[in-house]
Amino acid sequence: CGGGDNSDAGGGSEDGITMGFAQVGAESGWRTANTKDVQDAAKAAGIDLKFTDAQQKQENQIKAIRSYIQQQVDVIAFSPVVESGWDTVLKEAKDAGIPVILTDRSVDSADTSLYATFLGSDFVQEGKSAGEWLVEDSAATDGPVNIVELQGTTGAAPALDRKEGFEAAIAADPDLKIVSSQTGDFTRSGGKQVMEAFLKNTPDIDVVYAHNDDMGLGAIEAIEAAGMVPGKDIKIITVDAVKDGMTALSEGKINFIAECNPLLGAQLMDLAEKVVNGEDVPARVVTEETTFTSEQAKEALPTRKY
Ligand code: AHR
Repeated sequence: CGGGDNSDAGGGSEDGITMGFAQVGAESGWRTANTKDVQDAAKAAGIDLKFTDAQQKQENQIKAIRSYIQQQVDVIAFSPVVESGWDTVLKEAKDAGIPVILTDRSVDSADTSLYATFLGSDFVQEGKSAGEWLVEDSAATDGPVNIVELQGTTGAAPALDRKEGFEAAIAADPDLKIVSSQTGDFTRSGGKQVMEAFLKNTPDIDVVYAHNDDMGLGAIEAIEAAGMVPGKDIKIITVDAVKDGMTALSEGKINFIAECNPLLGAQLMDLAEKVVNGEDVPARVVTEETTFTSEQAKEALPTRKY
């Protein structure tokens, strides 16, 4: 096998498992926590991790996966930027005999034999939890509730699913309406920019539903700059529950957060070992998650790891 670095060239290496991990990017606090956890867990498990950051571009991820195939790693794990367009490269991995684990986000490939398992959250449920909170919170209010939605990356599983779950939940109350919806690409600057435009073009905004904390935090900046009080004049619901989001929630600037857990590293390494050793693994592993109100955030913050 070819040398180069001190890791074996995969394919049943004597020195242990080599994993190629194609990360989405560094778009959010959630992603940073996820990357650190995967890197720490690989170290702890003695897995040689080859890591790439795709800067939120599918073409970069495909390039990274092809390079892992060429390097004959033992297993490939990745978090797909978007849901569709993966069949060709996944077939290439399959033909090379390299198992693939989907982590955090899924793909929409009809052929599920193209990957060994999918580890990650139930994004539809996160959207539902967010919507159910709003239905309950608005129960005492009469008249229309105007919601603006800050969507995640267009075509990404968490953007599609969180929209779907939220819409299904708010259908319970015809007063709740999404009046504007646009992508902020899961970034703080994207959330701020889109919120500034919403504030200019959309009258009477009552609620912001942001698909992640970072976009919600960007929206807070825009709302404050417009002379309004986030959490009071405009209520804010987000997904993730990273430290910055939880801090804003504890201060009353965000009103509710549906958790999305980024700490997938240990489970991912465990699944990788099993897959490489030819053991059976479940087709789907769902992450355990909760939700937070302001009071719950105050309690959780002192011991929050990320
Ligand atoms: O796929 C998980 C999502 O991606 C997180 O909610 C978001 O913060 C990240 O960018």
